[in-house]
Amino acid sequence: MSTAVTAKGLEGVVAGETSICRVEQTSLIYRGYEIADLAANATFEQVAFLLIEGHKPDDAELARFRDELVANRALPTPVIEFLKTIGPMIQSGSAAPMDIIRTCVSILGNLDPDSQHNSPDANLRKSKRILAKAPTIIGHMQNVIDGRDIIAPGTGGDANLSHAANLLYLMTGTRPSPEYEKVMDVSLILYAEHDFNASTFTSRVIAGTLSDMHGAVAGAIAALKGPLHGGANEAAMEMLKEIQASVAAGGTVQAFMDNAFAQKRKLMGFGHRVYKQGDHRAGILHALGRKAAESKGPDAVALFEIGEEVQRIMQDQKGIFPNVDFPCGMTYFVMGIPVPQYTPIFVASRISGWCAHIMEQHANNRLIRPRASYIGQDLRQWNP
Ligand code: CMC
Repeated sequence: MSTAVTAKGLEGVVAGETSICRVEQTSLIYRGYEIADLAANATFEQVAFLLIEGHKPDDAELARFRDELVANRALPTPVIEFLKTIGPMIQSGSAAPMDIIRTCVSILGNLDPDSQHNSPDANLRKSKRILAKAPTIIGHMQNVIDGRDIIAPGTGGDANLSHAANLLYLMTGTRPSPEYEKVMDVSLILYAEHDFNASTFTSRVIAGTLSDMHGAVAGAIAALKGPLHGGANEAAMEMLKEIQASVAAGGTVQAFMDNAFAQKRKLMGFGHRVYKQGDHRAGILHALGRKAAESKGPDAVALFEIGEEVQRIMQDQKGIFPNVDFPCGMTYFVMGIPVPQYTPIFVASRISGWCAHIMEQHANNRLIRPRASYIGQDLRQWNP
């Protein structure tokens, strides 16, 4: 039996069940906990535990989980060697940070003793290893790009730092302020999970063939890279830089937007397949990012003011709201994070959601294999 699906991009199609996350216009819920509640009251480590292990951790479980992450932060030598060689390819533009983190996850799979095992225990171990190592990959990669010695290659950072703070430390060599640590931590919470988004669905399709976790995560990273998905946080900031330059040259935000509308240009960081009336993650991150901008100074506030004008015009003239990637772009920029690392940082968070979904798929699997509606040539003869 087959049921025709006519919705382009599978809009509105319910493609399976999950107990991990519920995405509605009015709410975003991770395993029963609402996102604003988690952003205000939880840490990323707690949320990652919730997603991966399936329940809210008690103090002992959280301490054990943190220790496991810290113990798994360091990268094996072949991954460090790969990162050291990739610098010139980044400078020449042939290698992008998202491709590099994808390749690192593939190499990690080749080295992982559990790589060919899909049992719940093996999957749980692999989830923690990949999650723990993602910030180290980003940090070491940024050190190579900046031409500085790799920070903490033996340990993958400072054992006393949280996942969020350690990520910033590894990228720069400087321990972040409590404010920047908090902003990063909340952004990781907001990015951690989002039901059957494109990258998570990709990971479930791969896992559904009974392929392995590293492969499923590598595929998910490839899906997240695109500017219609995770790549939008970088694209949003690039667009804001363009608007800033045009304002600095005597133009106005309104004139930029009128031109963009006339050209039917997609404004990055706006719109969403599900949240047609606004993305609640965006408001949470915007508020934190704006506070960070106010502490930083007038240039940072000016950037937010431009962003806010862009938002007003989009909403008034098109009825389209910002998604989480729009405030993320401005916020990470104010924090001094290099733009090409915005989507890899999204990876460092979303790994928790991907791994939860891969484990859920493996635990109750059926091959994901839809049909296509054929619209090609009628039957014809080859005539050799
Ligand atoms: N700029 C300008 N017009 C837009 C935008 C936008 N960002 N988003 C939607 N529209 C228009 C779209 O052109 C269409 O107009 P019309 O009906 O006249 O053709 C209408 O709004 C409906 O949009 P859609 O293309 O049917 O929406 P979709 O559900 O297929 O796509 C989307 C959702 C997120 C891909 C799209 O809004 C988009 O391309 N946004 C920009 C990229 C972006 O910010 N992506 C991040 C998504 S959220 C978080 C994440 O995954 O990282």
